[in-house]
Amino acid sequence: MKRKTIVISLIVFCILLISSYVGMKEFEKHVNNSDGAYSEYNYSGTNSDNYISISVEKKESWPKELPDDFVLDSHLDENGFSRINEAGIRECNGRTIEVTLQNISEYRINKWDIVYEVPCDMYFDKAWNGTVEISQFGGKNKDTISTKDMPISDTELEYVQVDELYLIPLKKGDKIIYHPVDFEYPLIESQAADSESSKTVGLITYTEDDSFELNKFKVRYYVVKSLEEYALYSILSFAFMFFGILSLACTINLFVSVRYERMHKHDMEIISQAIGTFSKFIDSKDKYTNNHSYRVAGYSRLIAKKLNLHENECEDIYYIGLLHDTGKVVIDDKILNKPGRLTSQEYEVIKSHTTKGADLLKDFTAIKNIATGALYHHERYDGKGYPSGLVGEEIPLVARIICVADAYDAMSSNRCYRAELDKETIIDQLVSNKGKQFDPHIVDIFLKCIENGEVDSVRRSCIES
Ligand SMILES: [Fe+2]
Repeated sequence: MKRKTIVISLIVFCILLISSYVGMKEFEKHVNNSDGAYSEYNYSGTNSDNYISISVEKKESWPKELPDDFVLDSHLDENGFSRINEAGIRECNGRTIEVTLQNISEYRINKWDIVYEVPCDMYFDKAWNGTVEISQFGGKNKDTISTKDMPISDTELEYVQVDELYLIPLKKGDKIIYHPVDFEYPLIESQAADSESSKTVGLITYTEDDSFELNKFKVRYYVVKSLEEYALYSILSFAFMFFGILSLACTINLFVSVRYERMHKHDMEIISQAIGTFSKFIDSKDKYTNNHSYRVAGYSRLIAKKLNLHENECEDIYYIGLLHDTGKVVIDDKILNKPGRLTSQEYEVIKSHTTKGADLLKDFTAIKNIATGALYHHERYDGKGYPSGLVGEEIPLVARIICVADAYDAMSSNRCYRAELDKETIIDQLVSNKGKQFDPHIVDIFLKCIENGEVDSVRRSCIES
């Protein structure tokens, strides 16, 4: 996969990852907003709603003897809290009220509290665990106290002491709000294995009023719904995970790809420089053909590109062009550089550079067709070439390409037997040999490249390099 594709994929996956994360967070907010507000449940009888049920019970009643010096608070009606018993002793009734909450839902309930509206004048003694927020005498005094803090000190509330008890006088309509300790006892959903779905809270009060009302309780609670139960949230979570994994995979791929590219580039440099160096050995055999192999390679690659061959094939053809005259390294320099006319025997030696080159390159298999280029680049389209006399498209494409490129460079360079030809002559030669020496289609392509200056551009780049 190309590095650019990986980078684009990574960016897309990151955007999707962030989007799904934001979606999840927005969804959480939505759920918390819809379910996070306190719900209220007013107790009456044994009612229950979808989340919680409450039962209230008057548990115990026992008389509390009041000491002789006990003075009731001036705010309260003395008769409402005490009576003279049969033995003539002043006493008041103690009463425990137990409120039991049961979570009957499949959700967790947190932050619950109980609001108790005082039904008649009474003394409040304590509650079990937790803290109580008390509004006394119609809101005149307010304070939150913990039953652990008894005996009370430093409080806004008025209180009286009876023996070891510290009693807080309250009037009808006052409020006690019971909070469990630091909300550390959530009501677990009743279906949970470690279910602790119910809590009992006790309030101890003193009053002689037997018509104790039990319907003055209000429970406030906070339902925590499991986000996983919402299909959209599950989809967003899955998307978050999915795109997270894809982003991670892309990042790893990107690092591997960068590293691979670096190594590949280095390897290609080694190959390119090795082949380039070797082609210079070849060219050095003929003092008139300096950089001939580079130019043939450049022209061949240009033609391959115009034929819309794959990028890798174009690069291969470039290297095949560089080594097309490999066989010349084993040809006698005197014959190669002979200024005069070659004898037929010498010409046969020259011609053998094709087969000798192919033989030298036969084990060079990393670049496909490298020996083929060396072997057939002197074949002619009309079948009069060498070494095999192949005709037309029997000649491998790479060899037909190199044939045109090689001939063009030969005509446009000084040779030991003649000076370079002018452009018009070269073009005439190419045109007149279409279908004879050269593949006509390749000649047409190459002529266009000569016309638009691309051939000259390749030639200049060879000189500069
Ligand atoms: Fe050649």
